[in-house]
Amino acid sequence: MTKKAFVAGWPISHSKSPLLHGFWLKEYGIEGSYEALPVSNEAFETFLNGFGESGYSGGNITIPHKEKAFQLLENLDEAAKAIGAVNTIWIEEDKVCGSNTDAYGFAANLDDHHPEWRDGKTALVIGAGGASRAIIHALLQAGFDNVYIANRTVERAKALAKSFGQNCYSLALADACSYFSGTDLVVNTTSIGMKGETSEGLPDLKELPNHAIVTDIVYTPLQTPFLKSANSYGLKTVDGLGMLLHQAVPGFEKWFGHRPAVTKDLREFVLGEV
Ligand code: ATR
Repeated sequence: MTKKAFVAGWPISHSKSPLLHGFWLKEYGIEGSYEALPVSNEAFETFLNGFGESGYSGGNITIPHKEKAFQLLENLDEAAKAIGAVNTIWIEEDKVCGSNTDAYGFAANLDDHHPEWRDGKTALVIGAGGASRAIIHALLQAGFDNVYIANRTVERAKALAKSFGQNCYSLALADACSYFSGTDLVVNTTSIGMKGETSEGLPDLKELPNHAIVTDIVYTPLQTPFLKSANSYGLKTVDGLGMLLHQAVPGFEKWFGHRPAVTKDLREFVLGEV
């Protein structure tokens, strides 16, 4: 029987997920489909309760429904609970289950390029929006002792640090540089640098120690102005495309029964389309 999966969001035309799941379906010769479904806010709850009857094994949930899915679903894994948002759903024993695979994707991307990131003790996360929650969860899971959250609006960083509790601290973005000498990893979770704009608004990285790793969740362009600046200081960098690719792995395995690989070919295929 053909297995079917989806990505549900509103609007949905920008999603890269059909590209990469389509690549894997072809690569592994799996009889299946992965469709982009426009689902409005009003229609989402009915959709979530009924997708199994339409023959879907599961799918991805994207903006603006990730938090709503978290509120509506009863069967959530640890990552979804910690992050407060769901991006992957599937059916198990007739129940709809939810996960958030962004933290996994973030960690797997760093593992691919600089596995020594796990030796780090202190990380500094820039931004306190939805995207930063998954990153903070990943860092805490990896055993970081100190996760500093630096945000332009410091109140948002404070609230986020408080919601994670131990090992998380907030600071104003303007003060980030003064923490750099003791920082092993810096993550930009803001949209600054998207579409090749400058990195204006992000801190200068010159005080970071030589061993520090700098990563960005923005992947258009692949080399953001922030990563370019890190390279110019001789720091190690990891671009954000791998996070997008790796976060898709657990879902594909759940829906289609095969754990896919993130390869150079997949990366090049997706890059050619973005
Ligand atoms: P998402 O849910 O995708 O993370 P978001 O909730 O809009 O998006 O959060 C965007 C993040 O980028 C926020 O931390 C935001 O800072 P504020 O909380 O102060 O708004 C940050 N951000 C966006 N543009 C910025 C800029 N020009 N300078 C500094 N921070 C910026």
